Amino acid sequence: MKPVILDVDTGLDDACALLLAARHPDLDLKAVTCVGGNVELDQVVINTLTVLEAADRTDVPVARGAALPLLQPTRSAPHVHGVDGLGDLDWPRSTRTTDARHAVELLRDVLLTAAGTGELITLIPLAPLTNIALLLRTYPEAAAGLREIVFMGGAAGIGNATASAEFNIWTDPEAAAIVLNAAGELDIPLTMYGLDVFYDVEITLEEARELIATGEKSAVLAGSLIEIRCQLYGAEAATIGDGSAVCAVIEPDWLTTKAFPLRIELSGNWSRGRTIVDTRNWPGAMTSDPHGAAPTVVQVATAVDGRRYADLWLRTVR
Ligand code: RIB
Ligand code: CA
Repeated sequence: MKPVILDVDTGLDDACALLLAARHPDLDLKAVTCVGGNVELDQVVINTLTVLEAADRTDVPVARGAALPLLQPTRSAPHVHGVDGLGDLDWPRSTRTTDARHAVELLRDVLLTAAGTGELITLIPLAPLTNIALLLRTYPEAAAGLREIVFMGGAAGIGNATASAEFNIWTDPEAAAIVLNAAGELDIPLTMYGLDVFYDVEITLEEARELIATGEKSAVLAGSLIEIRCQLYGAEAATIGDGSAVCAVIEPDWLTTKAFPLRIELSGNWSRGRTIVDTRNWPGAMTSDPHGAAPTVVQVATAVDGRRYADLWLRTVR
């Protein structure tokens, strides 16, 4: 089994990711950490505990992390995820409480244990990178327990929160820049699962309704998450979004990536929070660039076998 930790801002598609990670037999879900993003932190925590309970995984520790981005006010996305972040489905809330530790401390403890045993962890941030920046700057020694970081965020192409920027990076650009710097310094392999592939893993409304018809708790929730997304957009299919980044950890061979230097735009009138993917490939591009070398080179997801990931998700949540 591959040990993983998810860092989430549980909206609809983080919930798709949690259900998959909680139930897939090849993953050992060690912990889940929460950060403000799609909804405020208190609601992220409620949603995360609720989804894990639906998946019968009340054994997984869940910790509260940063409520706010490092520098700017928080920005939620009720137009995408509903007011409660879970599509206002009125799903019964979990009554479980969180781990007593702050998310950063829980991450540190699990990673240091992993460093000791040699069972290195794949960290999967699906949210603004605030917790991860705080972790890597506060406890850099915890990086010894990391196998890699596979994060949902950014894009080489279009944005979603703005024309330039993807929501997770746009919400906390400074945190994203810190994570890139720290990854370069600490030699942490990074994969960016961004918007270039994010929308390519779709579940049809018919498949969602088949899940609901099983009557099995976690399948009903999974189907309802897709159904509500279809209703929100008047569509016949919806992406599992963050869920597909977890698919990429389970089956990396169905994802195409290319190594590119990466930077985060921290200013700009219209481009703050953009991921600058340096796709130049002519000789001398790096040496003649007045900006110098980027802090790290990242595996950027460029193509995905969407149908195979969709089937993987369906099989697992059913
Ligand atoms: O921008 C993609 C992001 O939007 C994901 O992390 C997801 O949570 C959604 O809110
Ligand atoms: Ca998310």
